[in-house]
Amino acid sequence: MTTSHAYQQVLETSRRVNWRLEDLVGEGHALNFARPFLPETFARTAALGFLSTREKLLLNHIRTRGYLALFELVESFVVPFVSELSSSQAGEDAYSAPALKHFVDEEEKHRKMFVTVLREFDAHFPVQVGFIGPAEAIVHTVLAHSPLAVTIATLGLEWMSQAHYVEAVHDDSDLDPQFKRLLRHHWLEEAQHAKLDTFVLESLAAASTPQAIATAVDEYFEIGAFLDGGLKAQVSFDLAALEAAAGRSFAPAERERFLEVQHAAQRWTFLGTAMGNKSFLKALGAISADGARRVSEAAASLTLD
Ligand SMILES: [Fe+2]
Ligand SMILES: [Fe+2]
Repeated sequence: MTTSHAYQQVLETSRRVNWRLEDLVGEGHALNFARPFLPETFARTAALGFLSTREKLLLNHIRTRGYLALFELVESFVVPFVSELSSSQAGEDAYSAPALKHFVDEEEKHRKMFVTVLREFDAHFPVQVGFIGPAEAIVHTVLAHSPLAVTIATLGLEWMSQAHYVEAVHDDSDLDPQFKRLLRHHWLEEAQHAKLDTFVLESLAAASTPQAIATAVDEYFEIGAFLDGGLKAQVSFDLAALEAAAGRSFAPAERERFLEVQHAAQRWTFLGTAMGNKSFLKALGAISADGARRVSEAAASLTLD
């Protein structure tokens, strides 16, 4: 059982690493569109040989917009979910509810950060890039699952944001330094959220039957499949935006290749790196060894060369 002391420690660390929105966005913090933002391991532009160097950079930027918008969307279901948990734990001990409340405040700030950067992106980019939605319907569908399933999904995404920065962004010297800064600061706070989500996962699992835990893992796969449908739809928006930005139409075979490569890239970015994350699988394995095995196998099927 998670102790009050464990919540207290996370709360103290969270307060120490906490940053202010104005230190990260706005004047003096513009993105440099002459450089890529997302690492190639996520953007996967090199596999599209029919694109020119300029078009590959445009695609990298288009994928970046979707990346930011998807994080903003995900956090819009995390906020009401964790808010409710925080209220339900009010008065239980001195630290769990305040730690969860701090988590919610940070996610609200992250959403503002993503929205601000998206606005900057749209003002600079030559064409409009579509995004899946409506957001409310997506949030509603995710939150219709059990709290245990939503916690598993959230924990996977928290670890994913950490892995993206540490494993793919930190050492990539081609990327725009300002974009790297955004992801670094996001990760710093997400690392604390992952600890809190692990506590929540443990306490929800302790109050659940083995059958309810197995059902939650099934629901986690349902949430993953639902998000995958969204990712597939996003690829068509990205294709349309790239053709508009490049000022040319691609041949049917090129479009087909684009859809195939980019859907696999989206899956790897948002599902494979979460489901295959060792820390996530360890936390999941502590409540369901079979669940962790199934998720790990699914992640392996999404791995790209
Ligand atoms: Fe966040
Ligand atoms: Fe988070």
